[in-house]
Amino acid sequence: MPRGGSAVMAHRGPDVAGLDDFPTPPWAGRALCEWLLRQGHDLAQQRCREPAAGRGDLARALGEYFGTVEQIDVHDYGAGNLDAVEDYLSQWHLRWVDWTVTNPPFRLAESFIWIALSTSRRGVAMLVRTQFLEGVGRWERLYSVHPPSAVLQFAERVPMLRGRLDRRGSTATAYCWLVWDFEAQVRAGGTRLCWLPPCREALDRAGDWP
Ligand SMILES: C[S@@+](CC[C@H](N)C(=O)[O-])C[C@H]1O[C@@H](n2cnc3c(N)ncnc32)[C@H](O)[C@@H]1O
Repeated sequence: MPRGGSAVMAHRGPDVAGLDDFPTPPWAGRALCEWLLRQGHDLAQQRCREPAAGRGDLARALGEYFGTVEQIDVHDYGAGNLDAVEDYLSQWHLRWVDWTVTNPPFRLAESFIWIALSTSRRGVAMLVRTQFLEGVGRWERLYSVHPPSAVLQFAERVPMLRGRLDRRGSTATAYCWLVWDFEAQVRAGGTRLCWLPPCREALDRAGDWP
């Protein structure tokens, strides 16, 4: 879909406070992509969808690695980055992409994962609170049926603040990437736990921050 194309609809805007607007520092996206490259993925040839793109902070990092990155969000924050302003939860008809990668709204993360798994050819990666790994219901509905191929736990904290990026921000919350790499899943048959070693200093760019 072309940026700003016909799929962009006039949008009255839902309750923005309820949208879980926590932009991802781009270095955390680069950490995922560097890991995927090390697993042998030729990302430059692949098409990625960011289905909760917000202002495009994560998508910008993904765009440095993937051939194309399609950006969707239910709300237009006015950054000019979106290909479509749509509710991802009503997007089961979306055309296939190679990868779906996002930092989803926490309370909708499980639904995002199922749609992503159903519309991606090669894999899915979701940035979630590490706490998202637990939960009996989540285990029954998701992990026991479709476990991720890898959990990438950040050794460093990934500070995320409501509504803005802040280079000096801090957080008490731990985050990890859940990765469903469909090929690796078939090979390994289980979930790998990997750590992402400290990498912020190496992957941070001055232009990432407002
Ligand atoms: C945690 S923020 C992450 C923003 C962006 N992915 C990033 O990493 O910088 C969650 C985003 O999900 C969007 N969102 C919430 N509900 C949505 C829905 N049903 N469909 C699409 N986007 C949604 C919010 O507007 C917000 O931009």
